[in-house]
Amino acid sequence: MSILIKGGTILTHDDTYRGDVLLSDGLIQAVGSDLDVPANTDIIDAGGQYVMPGGIDPHTHMQLPFMGTVACDDFFTGTAAGLAGGTTSIIDFVIPQPQQGLLDAFHIWRGWAESSAADYGFHVAVTWWDDSVYEDMGTLVEKHGVNSFKHFMAYKNAIMATDDILVPSFSRCLELGAIPTVHAENGELVYHLQRKMLEMGLTGPEAHPLSRPPEVEGEAANRAIKIAQALNTPIYLVHVSTKDALDAIIYARNQGQRVYGECLTGHLLLDDSVYRDENWERAAAHVMSPPFRPKGHQEALWRGLQTGNLQTTATDHCVFCAEQKAAGADDFTLIPNGTAGVEDRMSVLWHEGVGTGKLSMNEFVAVTSTNSAKIFNMYPRKGAVAAGADADLVIWDPEGTRTISASTHHSNVDFNIFEGKTVKGIPSHTISRGKVVWKDGQLNA
Ligand code: URP
Ligand code: ZN
Ligand code: ZN
Repeated sequence: MSILIKGGTILTHDDTYRGDVLLSDGLIQAVGSDLDVPANTDIIDAGGQYVMPGGIDPHTHMQLPFMGTVACDDFFTGTAAGLAGGTTSIIDFVIPQPQQGLLDAFHIWRGWAESSAADYGFHVAVTWWDDSVYEDMGTLVEKHGVNSFKHFMAYKNAIMATDDILVPSFSRCLELGAIPTVHAENGELVYHLQRKMLEMGLTGPEAHPLSRPPEVEGEAANRAIKIAQALNTPIYLVHVSTKDALDAIIYARNQGQRVYGECLTGHLLLDDSVYRDENWERAAAHVMSPPFRPKGHQEALWRGLQTGNLQTTATDHCVFCAEQKAAGADDFTLIPNGTAGVEDRMSVLWHEGVGTGKLSMNEFVAVTSTNSAKIFNMYPRKGAVAAGADADLVIWDPEGTRTISASTHHSNVDFNIFEGKTVKGIPSHTISRGKVVWKDGQLNA
């Protein structure tokens, strides 16, 4: 069955023009006007709307086993929520336990992801090092299409990658043409400050940001960037949340170093006052790492996006319900870290970015889709509105509104960090591999 999207304005990372889009067999067949349309083609009227590449969220953790529990969106519910918000692809993370083979872990995650309602890819974390890790990285790149390896510089005594792991792993990435990515927080400092908070009797969520101040991120960002410089490899920093880390990226880019940065919708909007909420459940629901930051950092991140020093937006969608967060009732270090966002990213960014004039519509497409496709080697199959690309598209209603709420969102989680926010600019249709999976508020994932 073919679909013709008719009468819309096509929006890409570098162009805006009136045109129709013909889809069949999961692909975009043609873009333009007066297209040759087969009989029995379904017509979607996109008048007054924008037709843009489906969103790519380059940072999610569906059903992640983490901090003694498992994230409560699986690959189906999490990707279905994404589709409802206009995101047609995610890049999730395979996270082997130390000593677990990378390939073994990869196959486990691939099995879980069979239930995915949207397309997905994987970054693979390097959490330990020996010759088998070196070999498995090669197999993952050459046989399984993995383009990127993740290094958690935090989470001591769990998955933390210390310098003796970062150095050989970055070097191996360079050999393979894969890109190393880092969660930049100094895990040793976090561990020290967490112990200090607990000794001082600070056991609640208000201690979470105090144990992970901006310097913790700044130090790790600088270290990772310098290691990458010494080894002459590009590097990508996930969830950049501070001016400290952004300054390190800007400095390096100004020296000609190939450094990329991602920021999260939540970090662009929220500040650390959420941890001082008198309601423990609400404060704990915001516990994620890096934490939401003191006022001022948000504006710096927006400037990072505007200047092109940050290239991608993501969510770090990693969700735990109230009863899971309660594991840390007496000790904030035991609250499972993570918040939601995969369904809300596109609308919140349109509303706060395009709606305020901070971002142009084309920059919106770049930071929600095309730049991730380019950095992670999927472009122009993803992130483009062009003949031959996957038919992953959003028809965007710039006048449509939605009030975000945990009571109406599609994720399994019982909390939404944007609760009550009304956004203008929503997907009227989401099309995944040529199938309409979201239409006027109805999900058919
Ligand atoms: O708090 C977070 N971000 N949880 C998921 C793991 C990570 O650090 O990305
Ligand atoms: Zn992280
Ligand atoms: Zn993450």
